[in-house]
Amino acid sequence: MKRRMCWMLAMGTLAFGFVASAELTPIEELGRLIFFDDNLSTPHGQACAACHGPEAGFAGPISEINAHGAVYPGAVHVRFGNRKPPAAAYNVFAPDFHYDEIEGLYVGGQFWDGRALNAIEQAKGPFLNPLEQNNPHDKQVIVKIRNSEYAVFFQEVFGWGSLRDVEEAYQHVAEAIAAYEMSEEVSAFTSKYDAYLAGMADLTEAEMRGLALFEGQGNCAACHISQPGPNGEPPLFTDFTYDNLGTPKNPENPFYQMPPHWNPDGENWIDYGLGEVLGLPEEMGKMKVPTLRNVAQLPYPEFVQCYMHNGVFKSLHEVVDFYNTRDVGSWPPPEVPENVNHDELGNLGLTDQDVDDIVAFMGTLTDGYLPEPGRRPLAMGAPRTNTRPTGAFLAGGEIRFVLSEPRVVRAGIFDVTGRQVRRLIAGEMCPAGPNARAWDGTGDNGLPLVSGTYFYRIEAGPYREARRLLLLR
Ligand code: HEC
Ligand code: HEC
Repeated sequence: MKRRMCWMLAMGTLAFGFVASAELTPIEELGRLIFFDDNLSTPHGQACAACHGPEAGFAGPISEINAHGAVYPGAVHVRFGNRKPPAAAYNVFAPDFHYDEIEGLYVGGQFWDGRALNAIEQAKGPFLNPLEQNNPHDKQVIVKIRNSEYAVFFQEVFGWGSLRDVEEAYQHVAEAIAAYEMSEEVSAFTSKYDAYLAGMADLTEAEMRGLALFEGQGNCAACHISQPGPNGEPPLFTDFTYDNLGTPKNPENPFYQMPPHWNPDGENWIDYGLGEVLGLPEEMGKMKVPTLRNVAQLPYPEFVQCYMHNGVFKSLHEVVDFYNTRDVGSWPPPEVPENVNHDELGNLGLTDQDVDDIVAFMGTLTDGYLPEPGRRPLAMGAPRTNTRPTGAFLAGGEIRFVLSEPRVVRAGIFDVTGRQVRRLIAGEMCPAGPNARAWDGTGDNGLPLVSGTYFYRIEAGPYREARRLLLLR
């Protein structure tokens, strides 16, 4: 069955040519159906999209149910979580949560505090979270999908009978969601800034000044990467590291009022972020650097948008003012006074005009930009300086990658002289979606490689990526 699926996908790609790139592949389409299915909560009525709406860049849509600010009620409406939903877009490109030996810091993972290893593991959480979709167990989710209109389609994608075993099916649910998050509908790379990088749009004077400040005096790009990667990958506006910016509490966070069962500390509850997950004092208060793609998207101007993990700031101006004057202005104290970053922010010496310009620049990061008349639209296969990242990464002895369509994939391990020491993949990979290839640290001759620096390289169609890895024995 899987083989036939693959052949169908390949035919679809041929038939549609460039246009196919704007269409979802079957696994992405399945992920979309699950993502928007508001029957997958208990009581029914809440889909992933309730807290990650396309109208808000797949972050929190602002509406009446969210009058308290950034934090959302669950399927049970009197229950509130404790943080603002970050974008469920561009998140798939985060590497698996890990400690980077070279840089000496934690990188990657999902959630503000990194507690989920990757997008696939993350997607298994909300369905069962009592403060979110509140299903008692994974079986309930699968039973609902078995009875859904897309039950047949599910099995077309993952094979007949793939809804039978609950654990296996639940894994597929998460894979389909991750594939959708990775799709060109969700992680679109179609902002004005992408067009600018591809030479297909000009930035206004204010936006140009904002970009210069973002990368210069404002120091924003130190954490929110703004330049394409070494192989032309479009920037994700995060380096997926963790920092304590000294963000103050948000007194309006409804989580403070939650009963002791959910919040035993009441008003005194403190969000320790990464430090709490790891139980490490030196990581207390650190949150994952969020992408700034679509951060300026305001679906309904009459509602207030909120920023930071707890939504304490109500405008992008306020955010930049905070970076600019945290240490010299009158701001409330940090929620977590330990480990506050004093090296990269706090007293930037920006003028009001500079702040305006940085905000103007962030306005260029919203997807769906239509190039000026006479210029070819981005999504139609116009020449791009960028290749789209597939999100390949090496983790736990596996190369994992997400393919948006079946492709000839080549992947291998190379030593520092560029010699391939282990061939991992060479050939057509199928089906589309998340893939993994195990690697046990041996070379092509079956013998263990010596400890040291290696590179893994993966090529899939126009996408190529090489990353350094440290082999330790
Ligand atoms: C009730 C609102 C709500 C619902 C429903 C919900 N989420 Fe979230 N989501 C959140 C919040 C809040 C966070 C941040 C939680 C944290 O960091 O502790 C989050 C975090 C995430 C992240 C992490 C992004 C990143 O960059 O780290 C992803 C991805 C995500 N959600 C996807 C989903 C998917 C998929 C579903 C459906 C299966 C879903 N969410 C359902 C509120 C929600
Ligand atoms: C030291 C790393 C670092 C630097 C430098 C930095 N940021 Fe951030 N940024 C973060 C982290 C971490 C967060 C989340 C903090 C939190 O929630 O407490 C964040 C959050 C944000 C948010 C809120 C996003 C959201 O979804 O709510 C915006 C906007 C932002 N940064 C813009 C900027 C701008 C503009 C600059 C330069 C003036 C900048 N950042 C400099 C690390 C950094």
